[in-house]
Amino acid sequence: MEERRENWGSKLGLILAMAGNAVGLGNFWRYPYQAAKNGGGAFMIPYFAALIMLGIPLMLVEWNQGRYGGKYGHGTLGPMIYLQAREGVKPKTAAVLGAIAGMFAFSVTVLLNSYYNHIIGWTLGYSYMSATGQYMDKSIKTGAFFGEYLISPGKSLIFWIIAVALLGFAVMRGIQKGIEAWAKVMMPTIYIFGIILIIRTLTLGAPVKPDWTPIAGLDYIWSPKWSELNAKSALAAAGQIFFTLSLGMGIIQNYASYLKPDDDIVVSGLATVSLNELAEVILGGTIAIPICYAFLGPEGLSAGVGLSFVALPNIFRAMTAGRLFGTLWFLLLFFAGFTSAIAMYNYLVALLEEEMGVKRNVGSVLVFGLYIIIGLPVALEGILTKKAELFYLSELDNWVGSYFLVVLGLLEVIVAGWLMGDKALEEMNKGGYWKVPKWFFNLFVRFLAPVYIIILLVWSTINYYK
Ligand code: PHE
Repeated sequence: MEERRENWGSKLGLILAMAGNAVGLGNFWRYPYQAAKNGGGAFMIPYFAALIMLGIPLMLVEWNQGRYGGKYGHGTLGPMIYLQAREGVKPKTAAVLGAIAGMFAFSVTVLLNSYYNHIIGWTLGYSYMSATGQYMDKSIKTGAFFGEYLISPGKSLIFWIIAVALLGFAVMRGIQKGIEAWAKVMMPTIYIFGIILIIRTLTLGAPVKPDWTPIAGLDYIWSPKWSELNAKSALAAAGQIFFTLSLGMGIIQNYASYLKPDDDIVVSGLATVSLNELAEVILGGTIAIPICYAFLGPEGLSAGVGLSFVALPNIFRAMTAGRLFGTLWFLLLFFAGFTSAIAMYNYLVALLEEEMGVKRNVGSVLVFGLYIIIGLPVALEGILTKKAELFYLSELDNWVGSYFLVVLGLLEVIVAGWLMGDKALEEMNKGGYWKVPKWFFNLFVRFLAPVYIIILLVWSTINYYK
C-alpha cells in the first residue's frame, strides 16, 4: 500500500472538486445545443431516463471503483478494472480487461482534450473580448467575428495556450493546494454568475416579437413530445448524461481514488449528480435556450456548436449592460470548463506518476506538451484552411460524447456488477452514511444499466447504417 498518496483536505473541498469535475462545458455549451438539436421536449424524456438508469448507478460504481483503486495506490482506470475483475475471473483475464479499459480511458482523454481545451481557450478569449467590448458594435457580424477568431492565430492560439498552461500550473500543485483550492473559488462563482444570468434572462420580456418570450423558449424544452422520440435522440441523451457527469472516462474514479478507505461515497456521489444537474438543467437550460428564443425565435435554437459563441454575442450587445452579462457568461463557461479539464489533466499526470514513476512536476510539463500536440488539428484546421468549419471538432465531439464514453461505461458496470458482484456492493457500503440496498444494486447496476447501454448501442448502430 502506498502511504504518501495525497487525500482530499475536507469534505466540502472534495464535493466542490467533484462537482467541478462534472460541471463543465457539457452543461453550458453542449447541453443547450444537444437539447435543441434533438427536439427539445423530445430530448428530455430519454435524458431523464438515462439520468436515473445510467447516471446514478454509474456514478456510484465509479466512486466505488476509485476509492477501491486508491487503497492500492492506483488512480487510473486500468489497474482499477484489473483489481475489481480479479475478484471474479482469472488474473490473466482480469489483466486483459484492465489493459483494454486503461487504453480506452487514455485514448478517450486524449481525443476529448484535443478539442475540449480549445473551447476553454475560446471562453477565455471571449471573456476578454466581452469585457473590452470588441463585438459590441452592431455592424459586426458575430458569425464572421467567431470565424475570424478561429482562423487568426494571434488570438485563438494564445488564449488556448494560456488555458492549457494554467491547467498545468493548477495540477502541478497537487490535490489539496491545486485542484481543491481552485474548485473552492471557481465552483461557488459559477452558481452565483448563473443565478444572475437567469434573472437577466427571465426579465427580458419580449424584446423582438410578442410571442418570442423567454418562457416560450422554456416551453420548448419542457413540453414532452413523445412522438419525436427516436434512436438518435435517445443515444444523444444517454451520451449527454455520460458527458456531463464525466462518466465512462476514469476521471471520477481518479478523484475518488484520493478518498480515505472509509470515506462516504453514496451521499457524496448523489451530491455530485445533484449539483451537476442543477447546473445543467436549471442554470444551463434556463440561460442559453430562453435567451436565444427571446431574440431569435425558434430558429435561434438551431445554432449547434456555435450557439454560445455566435448567437449569444449577438444577444448580449442588444441588451442593457450586455457587456457585463457577456463577460459573466463567458467567465462562467471558462470556470466550468477549467475545473473539468483539471480532472482530465490530473488523470494523465497520475498515470505518469503512479504507473511510470515520473514526478508530478515533470508529469505536468509532459502533459502540457502532449496537449499542445494533440490540439494541433483543431488549432490548425482553421488557420490552414482559412475556413472556420470546425469539422474535426464536431465530428470528434459526436463520437466521444455519444459512443466512446458509453462503451467504456458498459465495461465498468459489467466488471462491478458481474465480475466483482456482491463484493462490489459490500465494498460500496463500507463507511459512509447511507447504504445502497441490494435490490438497487441488482436492478440498476447489474441489470438496467448494461441492458440499456447495449440496446442503445445496437439500436443506433443499426440506424447509422440504415
Ligand atoms: N463533465 C465535464 C463536462 O460536462 C467534462 C467531461 C466531459 C468529462 C466528457 C469527461 C467526459 O464538460
